[in-house]
Amino acid sequence: MAFALATCGDRPPADASGAEIFEQICANCHASDLSGGIGPALNAGSNAASQDDAFLEFTITRGRGRMPSFQNTLSQEQIERVIGFIRDQQR
Ligand code: HEC
Repeated sequence: MAFALATCGDRPPADASGAEIFEQICANCHASDLSGGIGPALNAGSNAASQDDAFLEFTITRGRGRMPSFQNTLSQEQIERVIGFIRDQQR
């Protein structure tokens, strides 16, 4: 919960890139290189790599398990940008 509360306050700037958004609010649980930590790996070969964009979007919007929801933190465009960043890293 401490992580969830800590991430609530700092919204990325509206024009932040997918990489900047990931670094600011996702990397503390998934690592900057997407290799995982508190949360699972999201990089090439991970479960996330085999899931479609709708699964990623649903997870980011609603949260999943111990992962907090980001629907009040990120705009739809920002969510699409961060998914784009994750897909780039999975190549
Ligand atoms: C507080 C730690 C935390 C933060 C911050 C966090 N996540 Fe997660 N994330 C998790 C955990 C834990 C799971 C596994 C949830 C489960 O399945 O129980 C997860 C799961 C996921 C999954 C699904 C992976 C899979 O294989 O099922 C995706 C995609 C994801 N996170 C993306 C993100 C993105 C993008 C961000 C930033 C917007 C983010 N996460 C921020 C902890 C976090």
